Amino acid sequence: MPAPVPSPVDDLDRIMEVMERAFAPEYGEAWNRRQIGDALLLPNTRYGLIADDGGESFADGQATAGFFLSRSILDEEELLLFAISPDFRLRGLGHALLSRFIEQARSNGMKRLFLEMRSENPAGILYAAHGFRAVGHRAGYYRTPDGLRLDAVSQALDL
Ligand SMILES: CC(C)(COP(=O)(O)OP(=O)(O)OC[C@H]1O[C@@H](n2cnc3c(N)ncnc32)[C@H](O)[C@@H]1OP(=O)(O)O)[C@@H](O)C(=O)NCCC(=O)NCCS
Repeated sequence: MPAPVPSPVDDLDRIMEVMERAFAPEYGEAWNRRQIGDALLLPNTRYGLIADDGGESFADGQATAGFFLSRSILDEEELLLFAISPDFRLRGLGHALLSRFIEQARSNGMKRLFLEMRSENPAGILYAAHGFRAVGHRAGYYRTPDGLRLDAVSQALDL
């Protein structure tokens, strides 16, 4: 009898696998499957995955460590979501995935990158290391599921 063919895990499943683990529920930052599915249908949306060994491709059963999702308009691109699953943090995968995002944007002809984050998010350490600089501050911009207001910092990187 032939061996069972493993069911393919598509990229939306991989993104959701990380999404469900990576974003702390108290901030309400995670997108649901439908929001991601809809975003992926748009022609100016781009995403990337990183495997637990830092690569871009996945062997059968290999875990997804992280992903990014972005959207571009003309020669500007906004990083909408960026996450590494908790089991794979603090081993450089965030650096590797962000470097890949930036290099691909550059080779796609992007001139400026943007992102917005909670002002206290330690992700700021990572973004700063890759040259992002604060360009704006929005007091109380985010509202958590508990009704708390948190400030947002807009960051940009000129390529
Ligand atoms: C932010 C995030 C992507 C970092 O991923 P990671 O794989 O742990 O990042 P790396 O291991 O490449 O570390 C990057 C740098 O940030 C630092 N860092 C990462 N998380 C940190 C934390 N919680 N506290 C302090 N420093 C932290 C690392 O020490 C490292 O600094 P170094 O280069 O000076 O050593 C990950 O914590 C995450 O997914 N967070 C939840 C989702 C999120 O908030 N995304 C950003 C939305 S704007």
